[in-house]
Amino acid sequence: MSKPTVWISRPFFPDIVDRLRPHFEVRAESEERAHSLEERAARLADADAAIVGLTERIDAAAIAAASRLRFVANLGVGYNNLDLAALTAAGIGASNTPDVLNETVADYAWALMLAAARRVGEAERWLRRGEWQGFRFEGWLGADVHGKTIGILGMGRIGQAIARRASGFRARVIYHNRSRLDARVEQECAATYVDKASLLATSDHLILVLPFNAQNRHAIGAAELAAMKPTATLVNIARGGIVDDAALARALADGVIGAAALDVFEGEPAVHPDLLNLENIVLSPHIASASRDTRRDMAALAVDNVLAAFGHGPHAGRPPTILNPGVLADASGPDFPNA
Ligand code: GLV
Repeated sequence: MSKPTVWISRPFFPDIVDRLRPHFEVRAESEERAHSLEERAARLADADAAIVGLTERIDAAAIAAASRLRFVANLGVGYNNLDLAALTAAGIGASNTPDVLNETVADYAWALMLAAARRVGEAERWLRRGEWQGFRFEGWLGADVHGKTIGILGMGRIGQAIARRASGFRARVIYHNRSRLDARVEQECAATYVDKASLLATSDHLILVLPFNAQNRHAIGAAELAAMKPTATLVNIARGGIVDDAALARALADGVIGAAALDVFEGEPAVHPDLLNLENIVLSPHIASASRDTRRDMAALAVDNVLAAFGHGPHAGRPPTILNPGVLADASGPDFPNA
């Protein structure tokens, strides 16, 4: 019997890809780039499994054209690029990469918060332009992070990892989440639950860690920005679209808040042009989980899921981070060998 085919939409660590080869015909892209709808349809047409990046939208139209597809592994914890309902309805399993990136993303949230509060990017650009004529006592005054109130909107596992880092900074953590955490977890994170209005009004530094969905679109817009302290910093490491980027640009230009840092953008890789013209913002190209170790762990987890979905490896039949486990149990669903 011929091997099933797996399409890998982005090149990654060859030694990890090699783990698929005994069981799959591997079609791995050699170039890191977005695919047009037509290219994606052509690649999926004869694929039994796919490992895709966050910008590969797998929607109902893509699924309809992929008659052999049985499993999609997403290289990311957020999976708003997948139409999970459509995948599930078609009996196609899907997985993401939770947990392996929590600490790395939390590190990066702190990096952005510190950089925005202490004006690292702005000062570096000024230095590189050759404008530094001598030490300035009253120049480059930024906002402290230590001892301040850090707000976290969206308190999943990444939010909790961000909160745990606050103790070394003697910072107070407040959070808002759809549901309040167990008292034990709150205590472990030394985090206090507040409503969204208090979070906005009280945070010196506000970090967004929400999943993107229709309800969260523009969760931070002009009204929310106006409710924040004029000295506050805002950090978005979650998804573009959670912040109204145009409203943020206006708020930063008008001094409604002090500074911001964005790793994700509405319509990325496009960046709202008004953001590019501001000094009081740090911009990075969606790299919060991009440490060497973590990107390897994410790739390995995606591969583990695909192997398991087809009955191989230590998790045979039970993809470790499947998002729609019901497809395994559904007798009318795909025939996962060891399910
Ligand atoms: C990155 O944005 C991810 O969702 O993993």
